[in-house]
Amino acid sequence: MFITLEGPEGSGKTSHIPPLVEFLRERGYHVFPTREPGGTSIGEQIRAVIHDLKNAEMHPRTETLLYQAARAQIVEEVIRPRLERGEIVLSDRYFDSTIAYQGYGHGQELEQVRQLVHYATGGLTPDLTILLDLDVETGLQRKVRQQEWNRLDAYTVEFHRRVRAGYLELVRQEPGRWRVVDASRAWNSVQEDLRSLLLEALRR
Ligand SMILES: Nc1ncnc2c1ncn2[C@@H]1O[C@H](COP(=O)(O)OP(=O)(O)O)[C@@H](O)[C@H]1O
Ligand SMILES: [Mg+2]
Repeated sequence: MFITLEGPEGSGKTSHIPPLVEFLRERGYHVFPTREPGGTSIGEQIRAVIHDLKNAEMHPRTETLLYQAARAQIVEEVIRPRLERGEIVLSDRYFDSTIAYQGYGHGQELEQVRQLVHYATGGLTPDLTILLDLDVETGLQRKVRQQEWNRLDAYTVEFHRRVRAGYLELVRQEPGRWRVVDASRAWNSVQEDLRSLLLEALRR
């Protein structure tokens, strides 16, 4: 089973994954957490280039392609082999981030972006994708407090609003794959919802 967490900056993806993994492992599931961009040696090098605040001149197409390069590597090196061994892979972001950020956010032609994403993943689609939905201001304020500010966080508030609207549009287009969790609530409540959703999906 391949499960992905999506959502805007500061929605809680990275902080929720370790306790979710521990929770599932205690129940006997083989879970492997990973993150995008990165998750492999090559991917982490690409991540550094994408996130570096010094790379302000990066064109949206360059950005889009760098994400796909990192993604192709993690799919073949990590995700596909583990899924074939019957493990659960839980990823902090995956291709929906590209549709939301590089597609809706930058306003690039969505069908072209989808084709690129399909090329990068070889068509590997998550079984379940959870959107941690949060308003842009709250998310960015959480990020500022965390002092983990990267080149994408620094895009305009309007950009981040398009990203959030893009995510909600993706949910509308493919309701069978998505679940939405209100990430504006207390961290513990969000974690509880995520645990229930994962158990429900794994028992299916
Ligand atoms: N529900 C929440 N309430 C308050 N703070 C939160 C909540 N969820 C996450 N945070 C905090 O917000 C910051 C960003 O969370 P993080 O998990 O890194 O988000 P993301 O990976 O989605 O950008 C962290 O400092 C985290 O502890
Ligand atoms: Mg994160």
